[in-house]
Amino acid sequence: MILLVNGPNLNLLGEREPEVYGHETLADVERMVTETCAGYGLEVKAFQSNWEGALLDFLQLHRHEAQGVILNPGALTHTSRALPDCLRSLRCPTIEVHISNVHAREAWRHQSFVAEAAQGQIVGLGIAGYYYAALHHCTQLAAKAGRAAAGAERPSAGAVEAGAQGGVATGAPTSASPEGTGTGDLLPEPSQQIPVEQMARGDYEPL
Ligand code: DQA
Repeated sequence: MILLVNGPNLNLLGEREPEVYGHETLADVERMVTETCAGYGLEVKAFQSNWEGALLDFLQLHRHEAQGVILNPGALTHTSRALPDCLRSLRCPTIEVHISNVHAREAWRHQSFVAEAAQGQIVGLGIAGYYYAALHHCTQLAAKAGRAAAGAERPSAGAVEAGAQGGVATGAPTSASPEGTGTGDLLPEPSQQIPVEQMARGDYEPL
């Protein structure tokens, strides 16, 4: 399960400063991420709150089932110590997303406390950032499922074939490596990747 979590004021997407955040709504974002992950057999639980504690409660509640988190903490990015602490207690990676390019805006937006606990950050790509974050989680989980399937079949094999495992479309790297040491080595080989036309919402264009 992928957690899609949005912080303060992101419920007003589409209405709030459209010149900065665009015209799409939070419902559009949640649908896009849900459809993208569904293409890989992954469920999405979406949550938004203007309250820091409610965000923490949601993350804690789902900490055992979460396989990846997509988080736009809004202004809490620049103030919260509790959110990164909470993310560190999860056993899955978080991708921090910002619709706007925070680094090209006011100086106080340049620092993210959340980034310290995130696997990576996507900023300034509009709502497409959520899509790329979803795609990253999906391909990483697919590669992991592919490795698990291959390991069950051929314990010593490094190169494996794509297959299906537990409802998650799979792909696998050609060489084994420890998790979390990079990204390229965990992605499926091009020939094993899910065809573009099968990627849900692959037709989304960056804003
Ligand atoms: C934001 C950037 C933050 O600085 C701001 O407070 C937001 C939205 C973004 O998505 O660009 O609320 O996280």
